Amino acid sequence: MDGAHPVIIIGAGPAGLATAACLSVRSIPYLILEREDCIASLWRHRTYSRLKLHLDKRFCQLPHMPPPADSPTYMPRDRFIRYLDDYAAKFDVVPEFGSDVESAVFREGDGKWVVKVRRVENGEEREYVGRYLVAATGENAEPNVPKIEGIEGFTGELIHSADYKNGTKYEGKRVLVVGSGNSGMEIAYDLSSHGAVTSICVREILQVQVMSKEMINFGMHLLKYNMPLTIVDSFLILLSNIKYGDLSKFGIKKPKDGPFFLKATVGRSPVIDVGTIHKIKKGEIQVLPALSFIEGDWVKFTNGESHYFDTILFATGYKSLANKWLKDEKNFLNEKGLPARKFPDHWKGENGIYSAGLSRRGLEGIASDARLISNDIDSTLKSERSMTKPSC
Ligand SMILES: Cc1cc2nc3c(=O)[nH]c(=O)nc-3n(C[C@H](O)[C@H](O)[C@H](O)COP(=O)(O)OP(=O)(O)OC[C@H]3O[C@@H](n4cnc5c(N)ncnc54)[C@H](O)[C@@H]3O)c2cc1C
Ligand SMILES: *[C@@H]1O[C@H](CO)[C@@H](O)[C@H](O)[C@H]1NC(C)=O
Repeated sequence: MDGAHPVIIIGAGPAGLATAACLSVRSIPYLILEREDCIASLWRHRTYSRLKLHLDKRFCQLPHMPPPADSPTYMPRDRFIRYLDDYAAKFDVVPEFGSDVESAVFREGDGKWVVKVRRVENGEEREYVGRYLVAATGENAEPNVPKIEGIEGFTGELIHSADYKNGTKYEGKRVLVVGSGNSGMEIAYDLSSHGAVTSICVREILQVQVMSKEMINFGMHLLKYNMPLTIVDSFLILLSNIKYGDLSKFGIKKPKDGPFFLKATVGRSPVIDVGTIHKIKKGEIQVLPALSFIEGDWVKFTNGESHYFDTILFATGYKSLANKWLKDEKNFLNEKGLPARKFPDHWKGENGIYSAGLSRRGLEGIASDARLISNDIDSTLKSERSMTKPSC
């Protein structure tokens, strides 16, 4: 051997772990590099306490090892982390921790990927060479915070949902949650339950489908039994209308398209209600329009109102950083660090590069990417071996 690793996986979240497990089931050696000092760092360090998986555990399982039968249908954060720890132990996944990948370049000469790593503990640089490269650094590599005029003059607290744990210290505080996706809606609920005076601001252009987790679960099962997506969507919209009614007077507008259509086409998830809608209807959570700018500690909104806040919490999502370290001339990733090719052709590029977990399809998408990647590497290696075998 020339010292090159057959496969280098970058990132030890669910996507990296799933790919590693699938490769080891096929006895393909690999190296897995992770910048943090643990697996699943996003789940361990950057999720709030009350978070549960929004989907039935059957739609959140990684390949070759379902969660235990006695675990709850909607696994709480801690339970899911334990599942990932058990998963890594079962498949003997031992990442090289503290390895921050700074670049990966394809070397034409010998057809290998050269990966440069900065060691977190001492800043030392290391180089690894691999035949295949799997980008599994996640869609959530870095918190995304929008630019807002006047924000530098705000003297209160600014926090991203990645750093929010629970609402204990916010009792009696005036908190504005910016962003009305799942994290924003759930954190608003958590804050209000802890006695914070909570507001959430909703971008006018952002229209969301509000569903309960049971509705989504039901819909996912119907889809599994091959019911057409448009029928499932119309059915869910009907159920949502019955349960939640018209929410437009509370500032929440419904898009024309259904939840599964939006997820499949633009990757936008429906809002899975955890009780926030009830609090909005009771007036316990105030819905405000989009934020326009900040003046001192006063926040101005697009309807001309201004409100005072102690804290502004950004539940404005995350960014992928894979396009920062991947130096790829073939444009496998776009400027957002996500695959340039559309699903279902997103996972494989040229020269032995793959992506796992970058197609906005959650844990189910991760499991499917991991299977496709390991099958593909396995069959390429096998066909090469049969070609080099002496013929008789
Ligand atoms: C709050 C929240 C709730 C979610 N809930 C659900 C849910 O209920 N169901 C569902 O299906 N999906 C859910 N998701 C979406 C998705 O399934 C998770 O984000 C999942 O953790 C993604 O796994 P991943 O391995 O792709 O990325 P990550 O978990 O982000 O793992 C990527 C790893 O790569 C490492 N890394 C990044 N850059 C580098 C680098 N340059 N060098 C070395 N290592 C690096 C990171 O440290 C990290 O450990 C949720 C996401 C969030 C944020
Ligand atoms: C709430 O979060 C703080 C950190 O912000 C932590 O110290 C505390 O233990 C948490 N409380 C509960 C009940 O989880």
